Amino acid sequence: MKIISDPFELKKYLQKIHKSVGFVPTMGALHEGHIELIKNAKKENEIVVVSIFVNPTQFLADEDLDKYPRKDEADKKICQLCGVDVLFFPKADDIYSYDEVKVCAPDVRGYILEGATRPGHFSGVLTVVMKLLNIVSADKAYFGKKDAQQLHLISLMVKQFFMNVSIVPVDIVRDSDGLALSSRNVYLSEKERQEALKIPKSLYTASQLIGKNILKTQEIKKAMFEVLAPLSIEYIEILNRNFEMIEEIELGNTIILVEALVGKTRLLDNIWL
Ligand code: PAF
Repeated sequence: MKIISDPFELKKYLQKIHKSVGFVPTMGALHEGHIELIKNAKKENEIVVVSIFVNPTQFLADEDLDKYPRKDEADKKICQLCGVDVLFFPKADDIYSYDEVKVCAPDVRGYILEGATRPGHFSGVLTVVMKLLNIVSADKAYFGKKDAQQLHLISLMVKQFFMNVSIVPVDIVRDSDGLALSSRNVYLSEKERQEALKIPKSLYTASQLIGKNILKTQEIKKAMFEVLAPLSIEYIEILNRNFEMIEEIELGNTIILVEALVGKTRLLDNIWL
């Protein structure tokens, strides 16, 4: 596995090899969810590039940038074991300079849900993803469905900026107890982890109601609030796959999204129906 930190060196290297490239952008602290992205990329491309970069511009001033888990050596081993061809490991100075050109998240869909609780977050995500996609020039880039709003906004950016990359959504990976895998799960105490299980339970409750043909979104949200209590809920939202409000579940075109604070840890989860 080649490890490259200079964006220009990586661009040059990839331009020379003339092979299909699958790209998995990450912020490190790799877990089974990332491994699933890498596996999908390996199946569908000749070369797989993974980036590890804890992007400062997507953290708000009071967020966990400094304590975000960093596991560089373990991550390198995981990438090697997964058969990654190139690991892109830049430093902040390799990616950002002063007085930067930025990508702005869209006014509506970038400022609802997580964008409402973390204003500016998605502009930081889109800016770094634009940079990474331009550096890697991949044929396909892989993103997890757990960060559904991020996935949606990146897909919008690629379409609206006429970019030459296919965005591939990859299913959520869950622990055996149902909790969606996230690098932030390491922040949870044993007790908090038990409380966090209310999140997947609330989504399970929603799917059971839908199975009984209860399709009114208000009714489903009410039942989910009851399962989640007394967690501090940031939002429960039921949207179509274009991230617009709906009053009734449209099977094949709906996402149910939850964000809750467990202790100080913000956890996201969702189901696609
Ligand atoms: O999902 C993530 O890990 C990050 O938001 C991403 C897409 C790598 C951009 O920093």
